[in-house]
Amino acid sequence: MCGIVGCITKESTLEFLIDGLKELEYRGYDSAGLVILEANNSHIYKAIGKIVNLENKVGDFKTSGFSVGIAHTRWATHGKPTEINAHPHSGEISYIVHNGIIENYADIKKELGEEKFVSQTDTETIVHLFEHNLSIYENSLKAFEATIEALEGAYAILLITKSQNDTIYFAKKGSPLILGYSDNKDLFFASSESPLIGKAKEVSYLEDGDYGYISPKTVKIYNQKESKTLSKTKLPSNKQFAQKDGFRFFMEKELYEQSLVSSDTMIGRVKDDYIAFDEIDIALLEGIKEIKICACGTSYHAGLVASYLLQRVAKIRCSVEIASEFRYKEPLLSKDMLFVTISQSGETADTIEALKIAKLAGLKSLCICNVDNSTLIRLSDTSILTRAGIEKGVASTKAFTTQVIVLWMLSLYLAKHKNNISTDELKKHIKALLHTPRVLKVKSTTHEKLTRLSKRYLHGHGFFFIGRDIFYPLALEGALKLKELSYIHAEGYPSGEMKHGPIALADSELFTVALMSKNILYDKIKSNLEELIARDATTLAISPYKFDLSDDFIQIEEHDHEMLEFFEMLVIVQLFSMEIAVRLGNDVDMPRNLAKSVTVE
Ligand code: F6R
Repeated sequence: MCGIVGCITKESTLEFLIDGLKELEYRGYDSAGLVILEANNSHIYKAIGKIVNLENKVGDFKTSGFSVGIAHTRWATHGKPTEINAHPHSGEISYIVHNGIIENYADIKKELGEEKFVSQTDTETIVHLFEHNLSIYENSLKAFEATIEALEGAYAILLITKSQNDTIYFAKKGSPLILGYSDNKDLFFASSESPLIGKAKEVSYLEDGDYGYISPKTVKIYNQKESKTLSKTKLPSNKQFAQKDGFRFFMEKELYEQSLVSSDTMIGRVKDDYIAFDEIDIALLEGIKEIKICACGTSYHAGLVASYLLQRVAKIRCSVEIASEFRYKEPLLSKDMLFVTISQSGETADTIEALKIAKLAGLKSLCICNVDNSTLIRLSDTSILTRAGIEKGVASTKAFTTQVIVLWMLSLYLAKHKNNISTDELKKHIKALLHTPRVLKVKSTTHEKLTRLSKRYLHGHGFFFIGRDIFYPLALEGALKLKELSYIHAEGYPSGEMKHGPIALADSELFTVALMSKNILYDKIKSNLEELIARDATTLAISPYKFDLSDDFIQIEEHDHEMLEFFEMLVIVQLFSMEIAVRLGNDVDMPRNLAKSVTVE
């Protein structure tokens, strides 16, 4: 995570750095900092917390002509979120910002002598190592080259030095970095496209192993010590500003947008009696007998829903793995597996590394992603965009919804491709798909009821969300939303598992949210819930059927398709978690300790 920006401009360095950091704040918001070189004067500012604090620190300072600057917004990995640990980190004449993790930092620190270090970060080693190398080579490029050669781990680095005060050195391995070019020869760096829109006309997406330097006169790129030319891509000039549009939070706006974006996800893809994915070349599916899904967090939950759908509807074997686990378990992979990654950002480090493992094993890959041009999309053979639009709230809502819709459509697409579904069955699914946007519309009565209800669930020793079948991943997602937003402990559980241990926790201070589908195993989950009620657990039942035994009850419509129940319940658990967080006074859009894009392992 973390976000970095840098630039060389004739007059607007400070403005770009601050605006750029605001665009990247979703990547981390523990602290932020910037440094600007004007001739040989350096101006460095750091602040704990959000970018607005940094902006206040900068106060009236202005650049007055040509200058070079780099900046950073941090999600702490090594050392607490303090000003000392905030980037940029300084040597005697050089400054660095870094996104990623340097795994061998402790060894380097020991070699350089620990006394010169002021912070607890891994990043500070890079700047001291660079200055150490500079004293040996007396040439900045050679010193920089020797520095990155010594680093193990993942990084996107920007470094400036008074020994060459019109230049930014950069390197990328495993963390995203984009170089932007404006019409008037200003040059920019950023971790994602958003800070560059409106500033840069064209961009180059740096690849792993790329490093070099930029100055007003030149852009020099190397990979494995060979000089290379970067290809340039046009960048849209219109910034799709994500505004709150009258909602209290981005999350609330995005939650209300789910109905609209779910229609966008289906446009051109849902036909009368089949699903069309123009993105998928039929050659991708040749010889495929099995699907392996890899993802993290909420995207992993979407993958779990897909595992039920792909097996039940498309009759295709499917396994789902958490990307960070998959990477190190020496997975057995075979070429008849299609490797599917799911990601909102397309920049999640663990998912990217999992994909690289699958590619090395010769698997074909499909990525379901919300951000075009992201690393995952660029690395995958084929990608399907979820079309959720920019998601700013750190807790994912509409991205999850559109992922599940794409995966549902993919199951139907594969079912038809493999001749494993009857026309009637397919039509039944398509009818339900097309009805989904209506189900996702937030009803004001439901929102009001959940706002009122939320006050009864602010204490206790924890929550269980329980469900069966596809409602089990929904239970996991409900629990994750509640944890992220309210900081209350919550677990998602398959309800049939409660009696195998967790029911020991049941008492009046244990809150249980039961997802009771009419279409799937209603009687089973009803019994599971009754077992909890008999042990005095406090319960909230969500069901189309009236259920008098629970303490609280939310009635959903009687749908004849379980996916429609799924989406109606999803909106309810999202609203419930958000309203509890509001009552607790938490930051809904930027919950503590989190970041929108997890670009470190
Ligand atoms: C939770 C959430 C995270 C992400 C996870 C993967 O609300 O957003 O759990 O789902 O960090 O991120 P992506 O989908 O960008 O790969």
